[in-house]
Amino acid sequence: MEHTLFTADKDNTLMERISELRETINKADYAYYVEAQPFLSDREYDALFRELQDLEKEYPALIVSDSPTQRIGGEPLKEFETIIHEIPMLSLANTYSRGEVEEFDRRVKEGLERINPQYTTELKYDGVAISLRYKNGRLFRALTRGDGERGDDITPNVRTIRSLPLKVKDVEIDGVKISDFEVRGEIFMMKDDFVELNREREERGEKLYANPRNLAAGTLKQLDSREVARRPLKIVCYYLFSDEVKLRSHDENTQILSRLGFPTGSAFQLCTSVNEVFEFIEHWDEKREALPFFIDGIVIKVDSLAQQRELGFVARSPRWAIAYKYEAAKESTKLKDITFQVGRTGVVTPVAELEPVFVAGSTISRATLHNNDFITALDIRVGDTVLVEKGGDVIPKVTGFIPEKRPENSIPFEFSTQCPCPIKSTLIRPEGEANYYCDHSECPWQLKRRITHFASRDVMNIEGLGEKVVDRFVELSLLKNIADIYDLYTYRDTVFPTLERWGEKSTVNLLQAIEESKKQPYARVLYSLGIRFVGEGVAKVLAKYFRNIDALKAAQKDDLMKVPEIGERIAQSVVEHLNDSSEWDIIVRLKNAGLRFETNEEDMAVLNTTLEGKTFVLTGELSIMTRNQAGDEIAQRGGKVSGSVSKKTSYVVAGENAGSKLTKAQELGVTVLSEEEFKELLQL
Ligand code: IVH
Repeated sequence: MEHTLFTADKDNTLMERISELRETINKADYAYYVEAQPFLSDREYDALFRELQDLEKEYPALIVSDSPTQRIGGEPLKEFETIIHEIPMLSLANTYSRGEVEEFDRRVKEGLERINPQYTTELKYDGVAISLRYKNGRLFRALTRGDGERGDDITPNVRTIRSLPLKVKDVEIDGVKISDFEVRGEIFMMKDDFVELNREREERGEKLYANPRNLAAGTLKQLDSREVARRPLKIVCYYLFSDEVKLRSHDENTQILSRLGFPTGSAFQLCTSVNEVFEFIEHWDEKREALPFFIDGIVIKVDSLAQQRELGFVARSPRWAIAYKYEAAKESTKLKDITFQVGRTGVVTPVAELEPVFVAGSTISRATLHNNDFITALDIRVGDTVLVEKGGDVIPKVTGFIPEKRPENSIPFEFSTQCPCPIKSTLIRPEGEANYYCDHSECPWQLKRRITHFASRDVMNIEGLGEKVVDRFVELSLLKNIADIYDLYTYRDTVFPTLERWGEKSTVNLLQAIEESKKQPYARVLYSLGIRFVGEGVAKVLAKYFRNIDALKAAQKDDLMKVPEIGERIAQSVVEHLNDSSEWDIIVRLKNAGLRFETNEEDMAVLNTTLEGKTFVLTGELSIMTRNQAGDEIAQRGGKVSGSVSKKTSYVVAGENAGSKLTKAQELGVTVLSEEEFKELLQL
């Protein structure tokens, strides 16, 4: 039935239901993302969300910009529009010492003709500054800082941040409702989320982000807001401006922000003296390591807005606020040696072996030197006193050296292009890459990491075959490659009983765990092989499109690249690995040992999430299958079926005599599939 045929009454009930859904979802978002006190289960939430999505899909005229469904992103933009800030976005002057903070306090008091001000202190989040304009209580526009005068309109991206209200709660100040205002805040990412996203990128062979701030900034620059919606961005708000109501102090403003539904900082203090400011600074200097996100300092503001106005601005910064920046946790120490670490895929990373030094809460004796180019560019030498930093990055790194402390007899660091392992094979540097690799399949160093990876929980899950045991077995030559694991049983009565600190029970448990691992699905087995750039996700894709190892081996680079998600780098690496005779021997041995090298129907069902996030509209008379069957096939793969065509429809499947829906799809540029093409998409 068409929407226009609805009676006023039905429209009312429909509107009521839609408002009710939006309200509940908004409340649930707030409870989950801001208060961390969810009141709905994931399932309940998803059901309400889906109901709202379906209703909006059916009645697109009822979609409003602040509906929670608008958080999942829309069509990619061509470019961001640059817009002038209504209030310029200034930055804060930085201070680095107690003395400079005292100096600030003196200047403030002078400016206020010796009235003692109150200060507020809060954390300085290490993220990306954002200006949010609300009109009529609704998020109207989000601008980046840009050059302070004008910024990029990234509203669709910012909308995806679940903790940000698209519509604020009712708040009255002196009897006036606040609805037109500007909020400033910082968008950032949690340390854990950063590590996880980088891990996924590494799996896909993509470039890694250096720290959470870069990742947040990179995400916000994406033109495709649907991609942004998949990244767990967080926001914290620390500034409110409105000329509709009388605002008095920063402390009060922060409370108003909270009441409006904005997330505000997790630490905030009103200080009556500069000593309290110092206490806050010291407290967080000690505690900041333990925070789940990075901060790079503390922001100190004069609390009273009247006093702020009195103090005004100097150049590009306010006189009423400063940032106290923590040292980017940096220490200097002696570089004793440069060693090389070999990862499971053969990547060789130079590591700084340091005289142990205490940096930001922990003792560091090793730090990354990234790659050979980095060492050459900085001319870092063994014997140097180097700077070690633990800042916005999770892994400590060497950032430079102190020239005055360089020993006279020091010589530039000489690279060896040999693997540091006993085999000493020649390292290779693939074109366009900064890393060197050892590509010897029996390199014991690589092997240790490869076997540990193979046996780890997320891969073949062989309990009892952890790092220490693997190192020991490799050194005893019991393991020379991953296939040897499945021959370990031959040592049951010979070697194992002679091992120290290794009892009968260890043997039994280990052999049992090895036996169990043979049940792991093909995708896991593919992942376990340690093919460069083939992480868990890629392995699943390969296992789905090439359902057994022979099919995969027969595939040429071009065939592999036809698969979505498989780029040239991965394709090349797969072809090389499977065509290497010693790697292939290992695969054959694993296969003979009983590991699974084939995807069966059951695995397939698990792997089939190809249509996740895709919406289908079925129209016309289908002949190959019924509508219900088609719907089931779509649902099994994670897709959805909808009754009407909109811009958000992914595919329209058109059978015989398709009518208005087909025309609409063509008008909107939605992909239309014939039944045959649909079948192909389902891989039936
Ligand atoms: S107040 C007019 N408070 O640090 C001053 N800024 O250089 C408005 N920042 O651009 C800024 N946490 O990106 C303020 N609690 C906080 C902050 C904060 C991080 C960032 C912000 C600003 C820069 C100052």
